[in-house]
Amino acid sequence: MATATENEAAPVRDNRYGLTRELNDSVRLSMQHWMFTYFFDEYPPQPAPASLVTEEHIKENGNIRIADVGCGNGSVLSNFFSTNCKAIITYTSSAWLLETYRSLPANIRENVLFEGIDIAHDYLPMGDDIPSTFKFSEWDVYTEPPAELIGQFDIVHIRLFVIVVRDNDPCTMIRNAVRLLKPGGYLQWDELEPNTTIVRAPTPGMSTESAQAWITAMLKGMCMSFKTDLNWCSTLASYFEKCGLEPVADVHRECPPEFRRLMTTNALSALENVGRGISDELGKVKGTGLSWSDLCSACLVETSQGVTVTQSLSIVVGRKTIL
Ligand SMILES: C[S@@+](CC[C@H](N)C(=O)[O-])C[C@H]1O[C@@H](n2cnc3c(N)ncnc32)[C@H](O)[C@@H]1O
Repeated sequence: MATATENEAAPVRDNRYGLTRELNDSVRLSMQHWMFTYFFDEYPPQPAPASLVTEEHIKENGNIRIADVGCGNGSVLSNFFSTNCKAIITYTSSAWLLETYRSLPANIRENVLFEGIDIAHDYLPMGDDIPSTFKFSEWDVYTEPPAELIGQFDIVHIRLFVIVVRDNDPCTMIRNAVRLLKPGGYLQWDELEPNTTIVRAPTPGMSTESAQAWITAMLKGMCMSFKTDLNWCSTLASYFEKCGLEPVADVHRECPPEFRRLMTTNALSALENVGRGISDELGKVKGTGLSWSDLCSACLVETSQGVTVTQSLSIVVGRKTIL
């Protein structure tokens, strides 16, 4: 029987995006979903959009429509689905689609429509398993939005676009996402902040040299490959204002200490994948001349001994003005 080997063909990369969209990526996205839940559930940001998902609002205004742009495997949509009666952006419960579907009161369930949008459909749920109130479509957020999406949504959500943003400026993306909103609708963007990366030794004196070297090379290679300084990730709220959104929330959280090892696993999985993508044909991380696999392997030795690599996460919410 054939088994997977290192000699198998490399995963197919979509040249419009810095990560692959395969099984492991989907697993990582599900874990990242839990990561956001964990960081924010104790002290959630002000859940302004929650006021929209009420029986009263639906009676007055009709169905609520929520879009998740760059939805990946759709884990956010399932979370919105489960929490909409409490607080739409508090990330309090399981991302498991069918479980959350069953937990939703029927009177609200039928009136909330979810649209997952992504540049490619590799991840998207197919077939009859998904609820009839879910829809998935393809759109490249850097192109003109399809007419049927413009001005249709009460809430638009974006998460983890750190390597999707081009030219170090998220404004094109924000403006296009805002075009999907109804007047008075909300844009929520959840992001990680690479420039807050901290490498920690579990005990004083333990070496973090290799982990530091891998992170330094990766940040340099990413900045060069994606033409960014990655600073925008920590100042997203200022771009919301620049694009005319009323500020609603701007919340930043450091990694809780007990979550550091889990976040490290996740960060290394993502970096390993990005590292392959931003290395040249000789396997050197762009702009560094260093081998990604050597750096990564040395880093893994230290992290297996308890060294951690963590970053802050943020949630920014803005409201489209009512004209
Ligand atoms: C890191 S994943 C995040 C997925 C999801 N938002 C989450 O948090 O689980 C980024 C997603 O953005 C999608 N993407 C990349 N470039 C895009 C573009 N130009 N327009 C729309 N989606 C894009 C990718 O296909 C991928 O599914």
